[in-house]
Amino acid sequence: MGQWIQALKHAGKRIGFVPTMGALHEGHISLVHNALEHCDVLIVSIFVNPTQFNDPKDLLKYPKTLPSDVEMLLKCPCNAVFVPTISDIYPEGQFKDEWELGPSKDVLEGEFRPGHFDGVLTVVSRLFELVKPDYAFFGEKDFQQQYLIKKMAEKEGNQVKVLSFPTIRESNGLAMSSRNRRLQSDDVIVAAGIYKILLQMKVQRKNLGPQELEEWGNKNLNRPGIIDIEYLKVVKTSDLSSVEIWEENEGHIALLAAWVGGVRLLDNIFLD
Ligand code: PAF
Repeated sequence: MGQWIQALKHAGKRIGFVPTMGALHEGHISLVHNALEHCDVLIVSIFVNPTQFNDPKDLLKYPKTLPSDVEMLLKCPCNAVFVPTISDIYPEGQFKDEWELGPSKDVLEGEFRPGHFDGVLTVVSRLFELVKPDYAFFGEKDFQQQYLIKKMAEKEGNQVKVLSFPTIRESNGLAMSSRNRRLQSDDVIVAAGIYKILLQMKVQRKNLGPQELEEWGNKNLNRPGIIDIEYLKVVKTSDLSSVEIWEENEGHIALLAAWVGGVRLLDNIFLD
């Protein structure tokens, strides 16, 4: 792959890259289609990265569907699927670097999944090293992830331009995620209700202050044993810090993690 990429670069081709952990869905496919507008050659990787799972049980339960993933990608105009082994990524054994990216790494997911982002940033930086993309593409469902990857790429001074694209949803509003396939059908209906409340939060934003809006969202979403909110926070899009007052020249976003039917789901909504 290294030689192929070198030859492509030599020929002046722009290389695009979509890293995934497989269990592909229409959200990934949409990312692939968006990506194609920015590059000449597109590589998709499938690698379930052990170092980003803070809970080993979660890693065991993570859906692994390589044959159907490859089949889906064969129908897309993507040029290569890169499926590295653990030792391709971690030739010296599994490790994760500690990334100094300031407080935005330690809040939200960082608070509830200690070490998760160090694992994500380590694998993404290693994948960038191997694939040497000009562009890399991520979904905004994992808003904090794409934010930190942009920050990491900037800090590393590497040439990769990191672009993000909006969350793709099922027709009932549920944000597409590889984890959704672990939801029972009753839980799918419950989980789809999350986005309805997020949409109402966007409406309520006109009447409420940021803290009140957060409280309103928590009160309306949290249904112990049915929807268990781990966090629901209103933060600034520029640095993921909490919001005291709405600022005119600032973006605001509500981010949440919630458990439904034993499955941990993430979602968010832009509030401006
Ligand atoms: O979002 C994901 O699927 C993963 O966190 C990523 C970016 C592929 C790194 O393993």
